[in-house]
Amino acid sequence: MIDTTRLLSGHREGSTLPPLSLDVTKPGNWVVFGPELTAAAGPWGMSFSANLTPDETTGIGSWTEDVFIKTLRTGKHLGMDTGRSILPPMPWYEDLKAVFAYLHSLPPVKNQVPGPVPPDQVMKMLSTQ
Ligand code: HEM
Repeated sequence: MIDTTRLLSGHREGSTLPPLSLDVTKPGNWVVFGPELTAAAGPWGMSFSANLTPDETTGIGSWTEDVFIKTLRTGKHLGMDTGRSILPPMPWYEDLKAVFAYLHSLPPVKNQVPGPVPPDQVMKMLSTQ
């Protein structure tokens, strides 16, 4: 259930995460999301969705429009040239026009992808592979 009072406020402060196998940090393994979809783990470690609300201290309330645009264009934390890179799964590098043009430049492949699998059937699906 989406909590509409907290929209885009990022990973919930103080929330606990279930145990996670360290295997996920090994390249080639699955990338996983936490139960609220605001934490993700993979070869880069673990990252947490940022607070994008205009809170002055914990969100982007004190950001200028320039900082925002620079952050999304450069993939650097707070848009700073020397800032750390913004981690996955944040798709900062996506230029949607370029992505669409690229996808349309690929040779077409006839391949019907299966629909999503509900949780109670995931193990069953994996065991029949
Ligand atoms: C239009 C869509 C989006 C906008 C405008 C947006 C904006 C932002 C901004 C401003 C930050 C803070 C960057 C900083 O720390 O300097 C951020 C971080 C983040 N975003 Fe997004 N975001 C978008 C989509 C997404 C999506 C689709 C995902 C996940 C699937 C995502 C996951 C994250 C994560 C995990 C972080 C924290 C990254 C880190 O700590 O390095 N974002 N986002």
